[in-house]
Amino acid sequence: MDTDPLVTGLTAAVGDAHVLTDPQVTAAYTTDFTRRFSGPARLVVRPADTAEVARVVGVCAEEGASIVPQGGNTGLVGGGVPRGGEVVLSLRRLASVERIDATAMQVTAGAGVPLAELQRSVRAEGLDFGVDFAARDSATIGGMIATNAGGERVLRYGTTRANVAGLEAVPADGGVLERLTGLPKDNTGYDLSGLLVGSEGTLAVITRARLRLVPRPTGRATALLALGSLDDAVSAVTELRALDSLELAEFFLADGLELVCRTSGLPAPFPRPYPVYLLVECAARHDPADELYAALDELACVEDAVVAVDRADRHRLTAYRERHTEAINSVGVPLKLDVSVPLTALAGFVEDLGSLLDSVATSYLFGHLAEGNLHVNLLGAGDRAEELTDAVLRQVAAVRGSISAEHGVGRAKARWLELSRSPTEIAAMRAVKQALDPRGLLNPGVLLPPGS
Ligand code: MLT
Ligand code: ZN
Repeated sequence: MDTDPLVTGLTAAVGDAHVLTDPQVTAAYTTDFTRRFSGPARLVVRPADTAEVARVVGVCAEEGASIVPQGGNTGLVGGGVPRGGEVVLSLRRLASVERIDATAMQVTAGAGVPLAELQRSVRAEGLDFGVDFAARDSATIGGMIATNAGGERVLRYGTTRANVAGLEAVPADGGVLERLTGLPKDNTGYDLSGLLVGSEGTLAVITRARLRLVPRPTGRATALLALGSLDDAVSAVTELRALDSLELAEFFLADGLELVCRTSGLPAPFPRPYPVYLLVECAARHDPADELYAALDELACVEDAVVAVDRADRHRLTAYRERHTEAINSVGVPLKLDVSVPLTALAGFVEDLGSLLDSVATSYLFGHLAEGNLHVNLLGAGDRAEELTDAVLRQVAAVRGSISAEHGVGRAKARWLELSRSPTEIAAMRAVKQALDPRGLLNPGVLLPPGS
């Protein structure tokens, strides 16, 4: 029988089957998806509902134990795995999609619901959730909210923040904050739900969410465009944004496409390679194929194009972009730098990165074009990882970009936060953290720069 008061307290809170201490069992919770970030956990605890989460947080507070909240463990900045003996609080058992309110076009879902599961539930009612990305089968709603996930459809529906109508969460003292009415008009003080979106588990543990839904488009048309340069891709997106139905504009480069085809066995989409590829999709309550064809005809810069309307063909085109992450992971442990720059600066920024990246074994660039969101993936950075991160992020700051577009700050970029946030903003963030988590028990080392 375990006499550790933390284990005893947590066992009383959730039952012994859900307090995991065997390192072989906890291994899946202690290393991130890229294998770049890992650390020992004191234990993993798996509560089933909000009441159990509150009890777990209360026991941890009594015992002075730090907590790392974790959803699907698909995070890319080390914000969801332990650093040195914390309790990993897995939210995956909070996995129920509650009643869909078709009148309000909202749904309440547990933090542990995978995105794909939410999509299946709401699509069956003719609705959809505006946020979508490749890790949909594993990424959970709670993690998406904690990191304010962006993904592929931000140009039409905004980031996760724009799609959250309210939250329920457990702050460090083990209480429960509940704001799940979803009322569109509710001016009764501070927007605590909004504050928690993007807080990366540092202010409270998100347990349930009230999510905004959108009417599900019934018609879709997808095109993969071959282009000569990133400048051309930016011009193409600028033109295509005139289409109300444009929902997705993703780019990748020749070497990324070659890697995806080589590692996945997909055939090359064009008879010869091109420097830049742009994947676009239109979605509407009617068939948007004709308007997409007409818009593509107007684009002088397109060198070749494939258009797909059939579901299977559309998915084949999308796979060239969505399989980048797994293709890169399959050949090494990448240093991933997710940044955004003003769209007008993107092509020049990538050109300027050239000489820096040439000194690294291999680099793969891809991303979400409409938001100027570039994913810089470096393989073979080795002991130059810190130096390269510093150089890339300073270059981002020089063009007034953001050092984290959508993956969050995590532990990967905490020491560079000052490049995107002023001293006054960081002081305000520290004050909020101090007010909600005075003992610093929630996700220590994440988001705020060292020294907080
Ligand atoms: C994506 O856009 O595919 C995701 O942000 C994941 C990644 O950057 O690897
Ligand atoms: Zn992305």
